[in-house]
Amino acid sequence: MLLKDKVIFLTGGSTGIGWDCAKAYAVQGAKVILVARGKEAVAKAAAELGPEHLGLACDVSHGDQVAAALQATLARYGRLDAVHNNAGIGTPSKALHETTEAEWDDLFDINLKSVFHTTRLAFEALKASKGCILNTSSLVGVMGQEIHAAYTATKGGMNALTKSLALDYAKYGIRVNAVCPAGTWTPMLRKWCAEQPDPGSIERYLDEIHPLGYCPEGDVIADPCVFLISDQARFITGHIMHVSGGAELGYRRPL
Ligand SMILES: NC(=O)c1ccc[n+]([C@@H]2O[C@H](COP(=O)([O-])OP(=O)(O)OC[C@H]3O[C@@H](n4cnc5c(N)ncnc54)[C@H](O)[C@@H]3O)[C@@H](O)[C@H]2O)c1
Repeated sequence: MLLKDKVIFLTGGSTGIGWDCAKAYAVQGAKVILVARGKEAVAKAAAELGPEHLGLACDVSHGDQVAAALQATLARYGRLDAVHNNAGIGTPSKALHETTEAEWDDLFDINLKSVFHTTRLAFEALKASKGCILNTSSLVGVMGQEIHAAYTATKGGMNALTKSLALDYAKYGIRVNAVCPAGTWTPMLRKWCAEQPDPGSIERYLDEIHPLGYCPEGDVIADPCVFLISDQARFITGHIMHVSGGAELGYRRPL
């Protein structure tokens, strides 16, 4: 029970990595507030998780909706121990000169400006609990990626923000960390695959980019997230944790 009675506000908790995190947090004793777009998916996921948890439909790119979700959280639980900013979109997969302004804005509003909203609005509650913030970033925010420029910029921004927030909030006892998956099988990754020039060969490619030999499911991301939110990580802040099967390690020979 690494997270016993911790109240965790988890964005993008209805599918993919977020859903695996939600289940792992619940198993470890947390109360999970699942926040995601799509009323039905949120309701279904929250019902599956159990009555001590809460599902809230909310678009994290809108400050007023985030404020309402945080108010509902505090009204029900009276405290907040962690915000996990996990909601995100990964498309379009395009070079920058082909990306429209609307696509750029959507990516930044959902992937990065959402962290601005949750941080400002949850700050007092996190200060009171000496809580923590965890961001689901991406290894592409460290390394870059072909035909995905705007998305990688959102994740590079998230990594920089993680470190700066960690510095600003250390004096309040608030820790701020990020996890960086490489590839993880989720609805988002399947959508990205469909946009690639040769979708048929993509599964093998995704196995091969991970030296540990396979493209994982979200459970491999959820376990380190449990650790980073738990008190076991009480002296870790500003850390950008690669959860990547070694995808960033050195030059490799074709298999
Ligand atoms: N899957 C991967 O290979 C991979 C790799 C690196 C990083 N990531 C990151 O992991 C996170 C989760 O991705 P995933 O692959 O599980 O995606 P997913 O598409 O399976 O799930 C995304 C979740 O975010 C929610 N969401 C999307 N836009 C939202 C909005 N405007 N407001 C509220 N909720 C919104 C969706 O409802 C859903 O719950 C993302 O931040 C993504 O960038 C994923």
